[in-house]
Amino acid sequence: MNEEAIRERIRLGRSFITKFGDDADVDEDYASDQERKLPQPPLAKAPMREASIALPTCFENLQIDNDFLHVINTRRSHRVFTREQIPLLQLSYLLWCSQGVQSIRGKSYATLRTVPSGGARHPFECYLALQNVEGLADGLYHYLPMTHRLEFLGAPDELGQLISDSLCEQRWADKANAVFYYSCVFYRAEWRYGIWAHAPILMDSGHVTENLYLAATSIGLGGCAIAAVDPEICNRAFGLDGVEEAMFYAMPVGTIRPQDRSAEDSFYAFVREEGL
Ligand SMILES: Cc1cc2nc3c(=O)[nH]c(=O)nc-3n(C[C@H](O)[C@H](O)[C@H](O)COP(=O)(O)O)c2cc1C
Repeated sequence: MNEEAIRERIRLGRSFITKFGDDADVDEDYASDQERKLPQPPLAKAPMREASIALPTCFENLQIDNDFLHVINTRRSHRVFTREQIPLLQLSYLLWCSQGVQSIRGKSYATLRTVPSGGARHPFECYLALQNVEGLADGLYHYLPMTHRLEFLGAPDELGQLISDSLCEQRWADKANAVFYYSCVFYRAEWRYGIWAHAPILMDSGHVTENLYLAATSIGLGGCAIAAVDPEICNRAFGLDGVEEAMFYAMPVGTIRPQDRSAEDSFYAFVREEGL
């Protein structure tokens, strides 16, 4: 790519972030599908399997750090996991805090969830690679937010290898108890925001993983957001078409060493571990 083409890509990237609601020329001729009164897409993806697994919700039985400022101050990215088993209740809590549906607004117009979302479109689906979670077979899963259940999608032969391949060879991630993979169902946001949908989609994804970071911290687990996902490997593993729905973000979460729980230590633990 030559210098001018690179600069053009950068200009386009910047305008994609800043043009939301501020593109007068296009505004005059353009109507979103919602403005054209086209039918709204479903609020969440339909189950992919017949069977599903109920998740426990008795979160009062969890040891949660309720000191909000302490949680904020000790949140850190963690990349060294100790591979101990986690209770299903902890996994359920993480899913609830990052994507849980609290209520439905209107006649199925929107979900209200534990995270905010532009226009309450909540355009994400959450898939999981699970290992060492109490009561669950290791393997790939899909979260059903409308019923707070999980569906089992299958158990690949080399789950650890698949995890690291799917995250662009980030080998440390294959020791996580749960890798949260986020796909975007683009039309859920495009129906409302049309050509401007893609900036709020990215903003929304930050809310999801930040809640996941804080939830993990509050129960003594650690995780690390990952943009370096291999979309082809992820889409194939979870059966996504990569066009209408595509994987774009992930976060491994797992048990960590007690000494890594302080905010200062965790990054250096990773640096030491990797010999950097
Ligand atoms: C959008 C995003 C993408 C990231 N991608 C990666 C990644 O691919 N690999 C990784 O090791 N860390 C990744 N991180 C973690 C950052 O490196 C980390 O947040 C940063 O170093 C600051 O450290 P802290 O989270 O402990 O404050 C990502 C973080 C975010 C928010």
